[in-house]
Amino acid sequence: MRSPSMHSPAELKDQSREFSVEELFFSITDPRGVITAWNDVFVRISAYAPGELQGSPHNIIRHPHMPRGVFQMLWEAIQAGRVFSGYVKNRAKDGAFYWVYTVVAPIAEGYLSIRFKPTGPLLAAAVEGLYRDALAHEASVKAGGASTADTARAGAAFIRQKIAALGFTSYDTFSQHAFAEEMRHRDEALKRAGRAEPPMRLDSGTGPQARELADLYPVARQASLALRSLFGKLDVFSSLSGELRKKAESVLKTTEDFHLNAMNANIAAQRLGAQAVSLGTVATFLGHYGQILAREIGELDRQITLTTDATEAATSSIATARLQIEMILFFMTELGRIDGTLARDGAEHLRQLPRLERAFAATLRQTREAIRALQVRVPEIRIHNETLLTTVLRLEMTQVSGLTESARVLEGTDLRDMFASFRAEIAGVRTDLENLGNSTEELGRLVDSTPAALVQIVDATAPLKHRLATLAGGEAVAAAAD
Ligand SMILES: Cc1cc2nc3c(=O)[nH]c(=O)nc-3n(C[C@H](O)[C@H](O)[C@H](O)COP(=O)(O)O)c2cc1C
Repeated sequence: MRSPSMHSPAELKDQSREFSVEELFFSITDPRGVITAWNDVFVRISAYAPGELQGSPHNIIRHPHMPRGVFQMLWEAIQAGRVFSGYVKNRAKDGAFYWVYTVVAPIAEGYLSIRFKPTGPLLAAAVEGLYRDALAHEASVKAGGASTADTARAGAAFIRQKIAALGFTSYDTFSQHAFAEEMRHRDEALKRAGRAEPPMRLDSGTGPQARELADLYPVARQASLALRSLFGKLDVFSSLSGELRKKAESVLKTTEDFHLNAMNANIAAQRLGAQAVSLGTVATFLGHYGQILAREIGELDRQITLTTDATEAATSSIATARLQIEMILFFMTELGRIDGTLARDGAEHLRQLPRLERAFAATLRQTREAIRALQVRVPEIRIHNETLLTTVLRLEMTQVSGLTESARVLEGTDLRDMFASFRAEIAGVRTDLENLGNSTEELGRLVDSTPAALVQIVDATAPLKHRLATLAGGEAVAAAAD
């Protein structure tokens, strides 16, 4: 392993390295994070020569503005076999900096990281500040005598705590949200640039390998389009379930009003004495059902949070598969520029294609798991929603009795108004629940249709496995052994 000091990077510059939203770049490392493979864009952006990248630890491009906590979370995730995604500021050899959104996945050989340009609002609005604060926190922990490892852990704890304060249940749910948002913004930026879809064909050289690449390109392209469409559909639900949560919270507030109003109604009924005994009973029921409603809404809110998290996990998994197949497409385009029979460098690059393909196939399998987990959630919401509608029905009946009873009592004007205003509130809750029910059914239909769509993608991309391995030469055996 070489030390980064061998290639001593230039002084830090407050200058950003520009690259386009279309460009994707990857690196593959061994299990210790030593770089073993990359594509041309990575060479250009990092300003390191291929010979310098090969065998260097990945911290060769580490920027001192990055808190250790981020890498702590990265390694915790990938060593546990999970995908990590997040914002990273890097330093090129010439001292320039560049921000990326990176998605790191465990693969057979070690780890695969794919990066793209972040264009969403989160980076400037929240992440830069968060990292700055985390860095300052780490500096104070370190100054207190903590070891580097403890400082990194303290940094990770700090970031997690700040993310929780933003309303996310974990770093994972935050990054899944951020990843989907970044993909959405990237799609929009590509559309604005007139590159909404990858080119139809690969302009490749004339040799047999180049021709085979050109042949395989449409297969990968088709899969990328299918995944994009699936991503778009599920992504709608990610934001929708966020709205549902807000709805549930507002319903919860209304039920607090119920409780207060029911108490007031009870007091008013008591003041009216014997003539309003039954009215008091109605008010007591109202308070009772209001409490049940609050409890049930609280539970529904919890279920919605679980569903939101599961939806975002599934969306993020689809986004990872999308990014991986798009990386393959982009890499094919880079390789396609090599003319004739691929040159020596080209052959080395070709060997990376089966690795990328295996990462993609593994992500598709994980996506099926994520969709299955989401399928389990939908009926839960349905059950809670139906229970709630029954409670709302009871409330409606109580409200009607309240109105009738208060009409019977001479001095019951205030109470009458109170019961009348309940009607609007209950109707509001009912509408919210009915909307929630409709959205749940829609989500259910989409989720149920997703496995078939995934199977189609798996089937359509099946030829890639064998043909890319053959194209890469010796990898066929390794692929079969997987
Ligand atoms: C596949 C992969 C990609 C990585 N990409 C980067 C990167 O782009 N920038 C970076 O600073 N660290 C990256 N890392 C993390 C580094 O290995 C390292 O943990 C980090 O730079 C912190 O280095 P330090 O502990 O020496 O401070 C990557 C790790 C892996 C496994």
